[in-house]
Amino acid sequence: MKLLIKNGRVVDPSQNLDAVQDVLLENGKVKEIAKKITVKADEEIDATGLVVAPGLIDLHTHLREPGQEAKEDIEHGTMAAAAGGITTVACMPNTTPVIDNAVLVTGVKERAAAKGYVHVEVIGAITKGEAGKELAEMGDMAASGALAFSDDGHYVQSSRMFINAARYVGAFKKILISHSLDPELAADGYMHEGAVSARIGVPGIPAVAEDIAVARDCLVAEYTGAHIHIAHVASKGAVDIIRRAKARGVNVTAEATVHHLTLTDEACATYDTATRVSPPLRSADHVAAVREGLKDGTLDFIVTDHAPHAAEEKDVEFRKAPCGFCGLETSLGVILTELYQKKLFTINEIIAKMSCEPAHIFALKSGNLKVGAPADVTIIDLNKEWTVDKSKFYTLNNATPFEGKQCKGKAVATIVAGKLVMRDGVVCKR
Ligand code: DOR
Ligand code: ZN
Repeated sequence: MKLLIKNGRVVDPSQNLDAVQDVLLENGKVKEIAKKITVKADEEIDATGLVVAPGLIDLHTHLREPGQEAKEDIEHGTMAAAAGGITTVACMPNTTPVIDNAVLVTGVKERAAAKGYVHVEVIGAITKGEAGKELAEMGDMAASGALAFSDDGHYVQSSRMFINAARYVGAFKKILISHSLDPELAADGYMHEGAVSARIGVPGIPAVAEDIAVARDCLVAEYTGAHIHIAHVASKGAVDIIRRAKARGVNVTAEATVHHLTLTDEACATYDTATRVSPPLRSADHVAAVREGLKDGTLDFIVTDHAPHAAEEKDVEFRKAPCGFCGLETSLGVILTELYQKKLFTINEIIAKMSCEPAHIFALKSGNLKVGAPADVTIIDLNKEWTVDKSKFYTLNNATPFEGKQCKGKAVATIVAGKLVMRDGVVCKR
């Protein structure tokens, strides 16, 4: 199978490439990149005026299998990824049961191979049942292909447990991903603590709940030498702590979500449950710090934290709603609109943060268009104007704080392992 992408602006920061080129994909790999390729392909795509990028990678997705298929499933979650221009997702283990053993890792991989539209990496739990009491068999899960380990949704509150986990995975060079939020400090709050929470009368979660947790995690990385990755950084204190840890050579990396980069706690003032998320949307000073951290490399890449819940769970009063909302179908459009069109980030920086960097840090073969790399490609129209319409989403549950947002920039084709999985917003049949 040969797929030829003609005349696109190929942007691949991993090889400092930004030039109009043809790209030939053959048998699931990048075969050739050159000024002009004249080969008879099975399929040709005219990418004149479009950006051709290494496939986008989202290392923080909740696909909710096994056991929570009322919220999301592998089929619809990966269709949503394809629709959003994302070619690889890594799914979190806070499922029912929790993905905390090798059998479940293998099971999710097999389901993904049977039902998925994009590549699925599996993140295993750090502790059994994400209960924080006993280490999970991370060695076994690593041997079965788990990408990394996380108790996402929960902070591993016991420092002793977390240090043991770091030593354990450090021995085989895997990464711990921390949901860094002190649960005691966060327990009585429903949104960011600040002027907006005071005004609308909703108890707040202080930013220091995140700062304290991130500081502990950085100290554990420093003490053990293990690689700790901080999920969804949302507070200016956390950005500062990570920046200083990196400066002294600590083995820590971090991510920012689309929503923490682009929304403030003002969004919660409508009491729309689609704005409830953990960590919470914060005030503008925190958003500015997260953007600054992303710009200067303190925060390494962008994720969605796609975390749908069933409509009946979200359709309740603000305080009762679970945290999380879908994000795979809005991430690129929102980031291009808010960071690229407003000239805060170049397209090269954005591709690096949404593809090259996550691949590089988590040692994936994708995230680049070098000859021989996996044929995962996202084709982007930087000028396409569109409005977020959740009724058109592929995800099973479409609550989103971005409903009605006017965007500029969208993925117009998604190619996974050399096969078109999305064209002009429509996901192709498997
Ligand atoms: O808002 C969130 N929802 N944050 C998390 O860390 C977990 C996620 C979920 O699983 O729903
Ligand atoms: Zn989390």
